[in-house]
Amino acid sequence: MTNTHLSEQRAGQTCFARSYAKINLTLDVLRRRSDGFHELLTIMQTIDLYDTICVTAIAEDAVRLTCSRPELNGDDNLVVRAIQALRQRLALPYGFEVELYKQIPVAAGLGGGSSNAATVLTLLQRAWQLPISAEELHEIAAALGSDVPFFLEGGLAYCEGRGEVITPLTPHWPASMRWLLLLKPAISVSTASVFRNLTPDDYCDGSWSRKLRTALEQQTPVRPEDLHNSLQRGVLEQYPEVARAREEMLRAGAPHVYLSGSGPTLFTAFTTLDPAVRVQHQLREAGYEVYLTRAIHPQHEDISFFSS
Ligand code: C5P
Repeated sequence: MTNTHLSEQRAGQTCFARSYAKINLTLDVLRRRSDGFHELLTIMQTIDLYDTICVTAIAEDAVRLTCSRPELNGDDNLVVRAIQALRQRLALPYGFEVELYKQIPVAAGLGGGSSNAATVLTLLQRAWQLPISAEELHEIAAALGSDVPFFLEGGLAYCEGRGEVITPLTPHWPASMRWLLLLKPAISVSTASVFRNLTPDDYCDGSWSRKLRTALEQQTPVRPEDLHNSLQRGVLEQYPEVARAREEMLRAGAPHVYLSGSGPTLFTAFTTLDPAVRVQHQLREAGYEVYLTRAIHPQHEDISFFSS
């Protein structure tokens, strides 16, 4: 089957996918590597907070992106870079038009951009039945960013290396984390600068992630104090707005509060909905951007087609 044939097969069709955010339950930084990246152990979970991506094949040698946040348009966007990498790898003789509707906060520690890139790769592979192996897709994803490979599958995963070595975990989600309340402080944080500001005191041996993995696999109870993020100390110190927001969450009744990724988004977890809604309400009243969400495993049904 030739690539040209594939383009005809789906010509004029638009396919659609949800692109989910993630949180890091643990993020253990082990050490700085000689390539400038940091060696990590992290457990990530996709959550029910998502962007929407629509892709249409066009008979042109171009990739065009229209984003609901115009400042994210352009060739630097990971979605465009992901599609270009795929087109180049397969020598695709056609282009794509992409609409991206953003709901995931940007540069927030929730993996929005990485998720968009991985979702578009999965979407194109499945919808246009592209002749590319899972390994090749993983390779393209890892070249785009450390978090991108995780989002090819999503769900619950134990991630090593710089974050790109993925072991999916069976999703036995703990009852103590049924409801996840996220607060996005009104600032953006540069991941590179957060990693740069780490000190050797922030490094750990990875036991937070290993212990949590065991608890999740053996389905033993997970307590909020079993979570950890090595980047949290530095972010709270460097960004007083984040420290203040964390205090506010604790005062409002959040049992424990953790940073997701390199932040600035903070999250807390509840077993039951009622206290989660009360804390959400109180934080909204105080003017914060909050999201009440839950863990989700992306499904094949998250991809669908419209004929034009
Ligand atoms: O891989 P990604 O482009 O998402 O990483 C952004 C920046 O975060 C890197 O340039 C690097 O400075 C830092 N980083 C790191 N160690 C990791 C992941 C990211 O130092 N494991």
